[in-house]
Amino acid sequence: MARPEPTAAAPDLDARLRMLALEGRLPRHVAIIMDGNGRWAQARSQPREQGHRVGAESVRSITRMARQLGLETLTLYAFSEQNWSRPKTEVEALLSLLVEFLTSELPEMRRTDIRLQAIGNLAKMPLPVRMGLETTMAATRAHRSMTLALCLSYGGREEIVHAARMLARQVAKGELRPDDIDEARFEQQLWTAPLASPPDLIIRTSGEQRLSNFLCWQSAYSEFYFTPVEWPDFREDAFAAALIEYARRERRFGGLGAGAKG
Ligand code: FPP
Repeated sequence: MARPEPTAAAPDLDARLRMLALEGRLPRHVAIIMDGNGRWAQARSQPREQGHRVGAESVRSITRMARQLGLETLTLYAFSEQNWSRPKTEVEALLSLLVEFLTSELPEMRRTDIRLQAIGNLAKMPLPVRMGLETTMAATRAHRSMTLALCLSYGGREEIVHAARMLARQVAKGELRPDDIDEARFEQQLWTAPLASPPDLIIRTSGEQRLSNFLCWQSAYSEFYFTPVEWPDFREDAFAAALIEYARRERRFGGLGAGAKG
């Protein structure tokens, strides 16, 4: 798939970043573990829900910037399988922020040609959330400039077990031979199958340095970037710093890299 062109007008972006975009040194796919909303709110004596609300503003800023820079995919860990165990009020607040986001951002997704893709065990989502997701996905299906993937009720291990179960069913029905199962066929059964490529860069905010069941399979060769900035404060400058650091990295994919001497 051809890499989308950076849009011409991004006057507020750091010149260095625009240069990296033009040189093709930015990641095609960035995935983010948006962490620290609760701590951000608690440090300000506010309810945790307020941290999520301000975090939703960061989602808007980072999505807009990713689109301006010509990223192909932005994947956000918005609600993990394990988040269902949080208090009911917090789960409800998160889900209603999501529905609000889908409604408020649809005109922007239309204007900027962004496709929405939900990823995860969506059957577990309450009906209004599923309807909101289905409506937005249908309305943006033909958009090509960037994919915004929201991981919802998502767990990387759960995704791998699901894929294994789907393949096992095909084998049991005699539609597939075990020896025909390879990486490509396995990936077709992952919830991320609609995405064009695995993440080049995974960012985690708020100082924690772990993957927390996010994209376990897909992160095999991703670069990782950890920042102490909490998600509600993660805006353009913090994203720019992550992208500039990525451009400095040398990716070898198990090989020797460009600088190696034979
Ligand atoms: C982690 O912070 C964040 C989440 C569990 C949810 C992320 C959701 C949003 C940013 C807002 C809604 C999403 C969209 C797409 C509009 P935490 O609560 O675990 O923070 P803590 O570790 O400080 O407690």
